Amino acid sequence: MSVSIAKEIVPETEIFICYQDQLPTELSYLSEVFSGEKGEVFVQVTSEGKSLLVGVGKEEELSLDDIRNTMAKVAKKTRQLKIKAAVLRLPVKGLFLDKEVVRVITQGIGLGVYTFDKYKNNGKESVTTHFYIDFKIDTKKENDLETIITAAMYEVEGVCLARNLINEPANKLFPKKLAEIAQEIGRESGFEVEILDEKEMENIGMGALLAVGNGSVNPPRLIIMRYKAGKDDEILGLVGKGLTCDTGGYSLKGTDSMYYMKSDMSGAANVLGIMSIVAKNKIKKNIIAVIPSCENVISGNSYKIGDVLESMAGKTIEVLNTDAEGRLALADALHYIVTKEEVDKVIDIATLTGVAGTTFGNVYTATVANDDEFYNDFELAAQKAEEKFWRLPTDKAYREMINSDVADLKNTGGSGGGTITAGMFLQEFIQDKPWIHLDIAATACTNPGRSEYEYKGGTGIGIRTIYELIKG
Ligand code: BES
Ligand code: ZN
Ligand code: ZN
Repeated sequence: MSVSIAKEIVPETEIFICYQDQLPTELSYLSEVFSGEKGEVFVQVTSEGKSLLVGVGKEEELSLDDIRNTMAKVAKKTRQLKIKAAVLRLPVKGLFLDKEVVRVITQGIGLGVYTFDKYKNNGKESVTTHFYIDFKIDTKKENDLETIITAAMYEVEGVCLARNLINEPANKLFPKKLAEIAQEIGRESGFEVEILDEKEMENIGMGALLAVGNGSVNPPRLIIMRYKAGKDDEILGLVGKGLTCDTGGYSLKGTDSMYYMKSDMSGAANVLGIMSIVAKNKIKKNIIAVIPSCENVISGNSYKIGDVLESMAGKTIEVLNTDAEGRLALADALHYIVTKEEVDKVIDIATLTGVAGTTFGNVYTATVANDDEFYNDFELAAQKAEEKFWRLPTDKAYREMINSDVADLKNTGGSGGGTITAGMFLQEFIQDKPWIHLDIAATACTNPGRSEYEYKGGTGIGIRTIYELIKG
C-alpha cells in the first residue's frame, strides 16, 4: 500500500469520490444507478479499465473522520478487486480542498488495509494498491503535499507497529522479546534505547514491579527510550503498561477474561508506536518513554495476597488483589521517569481496569489528570486526532479508599470507583508533576473494529492524539 500525488501517469483504474447528488459531468449518465450516498460503492468495468464511484453523502455533513472511513473502505475494495494502481479523483469542493485531507486519506488507506494473519498458513495473499491522489491544489505546493503524505505514512506505520505487538500472543512476546523489539525500532527510527534487567531494577529498589514479575520464568525488563531533539530542555515523559501476560496471579482470572491478557501490554505498544512516529518525523521535542514489562503468572515465587511491597518511591503497598498488578508495575516506572529521567510532564497509558468499559463501553477512553492546563492541551490534540477521551473526577474521598491498615497504600480501592482509585494510586508516584493517565482497558482492543480503519484486535488508541500533542 502506498500513496503519492498524481502526476502524468494515469493508471487504468479511476476512483471518483462523489458528494451526494453531485456527480461530475463526465459521470452524469450514471445518475440512475449511483447517487453518491454515504457508503455507496459502484464498480464500472469498461474496455479501458475499471472505475469505482464512491459516495460520501451530503457535502455539508462530511467530516474528516468520514473521509478516513471512506478511504479505508475504498482500500479494502481495491485489494479485493486486485487493483494494482489507481488514481483518486476528489471533488473540487468543500473539505476536499483542505490540506488536512491528504493526511486523512493516507491514514484511512494505510490503517484500513491492516490485517493480522501471520500465523495462518494460508494467510491472505494480498495485492497492494498504489494510490495516486489527484489533489487540486497549487502545484508549487506539491512537495508540501508529499511531505504530508510521508508524515502520515509514518503515523500509519506507528499505529500498525502497535497493533502488531498487541495482537502477538504471550508465548511469542515476553518482556525480553519486547525489549529487543524496542531496540530494533529505536535503531530504525532514531532514538536511544536502554534496557534494565532484573538485577539492575533490584539495585534501584523497584520492589513493586519486581514482585509482579517474580512468578515468571520470563524475567522482567525496564525499557527506557530517549529521543532528544528539542530546542529547549522540556521533556515529556511517556509510560506504557507492558504486561505481556496477565493471568491475575493468585487472584486468578477465568478462562474467558484471561484470553485477552496477551494484550495487557497495549500501553507499552502504543508508547513504542508514538516514539517511532516522533523520531521518524524528526519532531523537534524531547521525549523519554519507559515501559515496565513483566508477566503476572502463578508459581512458588509469585507474590501473594496480603504481601507488603516496598516501592522505589519508598512507599509501602499492601497487596489485596494480585490482579491489580498494573498499578504496581507503573508505580515504579512513574517514580523512575520523574526522578531519574527528570521529565517535566508525564502521560501514562495502561490497560488498568476492566470497569473503565462498564461506563464507557469501547467508545470513550477514561482519563485521570491533575493539571487543567496540560489536560486542555491534550483535549485539543484529541479533537484534532478525532479520538475520544473523558476525564474522571479525583475527589479526596476516592483517595481515602486506597489507604491501607498496614502499609502506606493498598492496591485496590473500596467498592466502586475502580478506575478512579487506580488512577489516584498512580498519582501517588508522580511527585505532583503535570500528569495524565489513560485507562485504555476497554479501548486498546476491539472486536470487531469500531470503524472501517480499525481491525479486530489492537487499535493503537491514543497514539494519534499524543503525536498531535507532541507535534503541537
Ligand atoms: N489488565 C487488567 C485490566 C483489564 C481488564 C484490561 C479487561 C483489559 C480488559 C488489570 O490488570 C486487572 O486485572 N484489573 C482488575 C483490577 C481489580 C482487581 C481492582 C480488574 O479490572 O478487574
Ligand atoms: Zn490484572
Ligand atoms: Zn493487567
